[in-house]
Amino acid sequence: MGNQEKILVSVAWPYANGSIHLGQTIGAYLPADIFARFHRMKGNAVLMVSGSDTHGTPVVLEAEKQKTTPEKIFQLYHNEFLENWKQLGISFDLFTTTHTKNHEEVVQDLFLKLLENGFIYKDVMTLPYSEKDKRFLADRYVEGTCPHCNFESARGDQCDNCGRTLDPIELIDIKSRISGDALVFKETEHFFLALTKFEKQLYTWIEKNKHWKPNVRNFSLKFLEGGLKDRAITRDIEWGVPVPLDGYEDKRIYVWFDAVIGYLSASIEWSSQTGNKSKWEDFWKGDGKSYYFMGKDNIPFHTIIWPSMLIGSGDLNLPYDVPANEYLNLEGLKFSTSRGWAIWLGEYLSKFEPDPLRYVLSANMPEIRDTDFSWDEYIRRNNDELVATYGNLVHRVLSLSYRSFDKKIPECGELNESGESLLKLARDSMEKVSEELTNCRFKSALTIAMGLAQAANKFLNDEEPWHKLKSTDIEGQRDAATTLWVVLSVVNCLKILLYPFLPFSSEKLHKLLGFEDLVTDVGWNWSANQIISGTSLPKPKVLFVKIEREELDT
Ligand code: MF3
Ligand code: ZN
Repeated sequence: MGNQEKILVSVAWPYANGSIHLGQTIGAYLPADIFARFHRMKGNAVLMVSGSDTHGTPVVLEAEKQKTTPEKIFQLYHNEFLENWKQLGISFDLFTTTHTKNHEEVVQDLFLKLLENGFIYKDVMTLPYSEKDKRFLADRYVEGTCPHCNFESARGDQCDNCGRTLDPIELIDIKSRISGDALVFKETEHFFLALTKFEKQLYTWIEKNKHWKPNVRNFSLKFLEGGLKDRAITRDIEWGVPVPLDGYEDKRIYVWFDAVIGYLSASIEWSSQTGNKSKWEDFWKGDGKSYYFMGKDNIPFHTIIWPSMLIGSGDLNLPYDVPANEYLNLEGLKFSTSRGWAIWLGEYLSKFEPDPLRYVLSANMPEIRDTDFSWDEYIRRNNDELVATYGNLVHRVLSLSYRSFDKKIPECGELNESGESLLKLARDSMEKVSEELTNCRFKSALTIAMGLAQAANKFLNDEEPWHKLKSTDIEGQRDAATTLWVVLSVVNCLKILLYPFLPFSSEKLHKLLGFEDLVTDVGWNWSANQIISGTSLPKPKVLFVKIEREELDT
């Protein structure tokens, strides 16, 4: 393939201190997977990586709470994440952790390179210190009032309300999150990333990126207009990547500095696994394009901090796009792990099928504004859209063909005008959905695909092949065969269009249409993979089932 693109799909690394909920699923993992599957179908080279974010205070705090070690905590959740991805069909090429030897080396190398290039320097810092516990308290151990928006429980590293990154010293009325004790500030030596040196370059770069979502681009530009501050990238904790210099044994590299490097270290780890040690470079240098998927609270780390690190370290590509999502709310309220207001992905998957969730979440993706998930909405979209529009269409034409045409795909006779125009709509939909997915407009892609299913339903209802099949004249039979052929052909197209969203169902449908290979072998190419009249069909099975409200309450 001469014009094969190289697409890096980078997905935010979940903290391995709690289960994944539906908000995170639609914020990052699902759109990334849809995108990766689409590009693989297109025949492009795709590398989709992420992993468990195992360092920093979030994992330590959870370990303290559960009276165990950080290792045990991250392993527990890491295994759970892997199971989640398998069941939901999130097709990572590698989902690793930040607690590997390889990651440590890559982080330390990059740290030293930035130090050597003059973008990391040493300075004395004044940090929150507990006189009682005789130790410094980092980031998430402290809380206080946000100086920007007055939100009262802003963390030491970021305000959850206005999204600004923070330094503990900026917090008003700082106190320990564990004991609630008031804290003092004390001097300690740390390393700093010289973000101020990148301001201009970042601004010019982001300004140029007109293809970014307006909310991501505007947020980042405003962030820069507010002026950057150099940020400490080491902490006084014991859990994390060691500082690769003598004399700093009791300090660790800051979790965010370490985590964003995960995209690179995971690509290198994947590369070694394939047996081609430099293969990762295809995705990180030259014409490789990288996409970063995440929820909106992660934006500054991916449009400001990580790009600064990339610029400062030399020759690696900057993010091509950062299609961050807004939030998904649950029955009107924000998802909250700490308050237990969430639907856990693992719990859903232990009871229900993956594709209906993929569908409902995608149809409701918070692409440009917050959206809401409710079980009523889930049932409505499953029953009225997935079952009634798509599933029934598929089942009606497969059953009719199976019953009336000797369990085979019927012959296509002469097409009437509406048949022709439906097939043209299918061809156009292939192009349009492709364009929308290329530009990370997922909801619009799904709407176009479902529009084709609606048009096919209308065609089928107008043509009424079931009436014609009752007639004994050969003309009527031929007409009915042609109608069924047209709709089967459109269904064959929908199988491809909806594959990125509904991979399990598309695989089933591929088999139900009489094919023996995998749907992924077909590629994003409908016209070259037409149904073939005379092909034997297996006994039709339904793709989706109606859900009753009562089933959810069990
Ligand atoms: N663990 C962070 C969170 O859950 C995300 C880290 S993304 C990465 O908010 F860039 F650091 F990888
Ligand atoms: Zn704030």
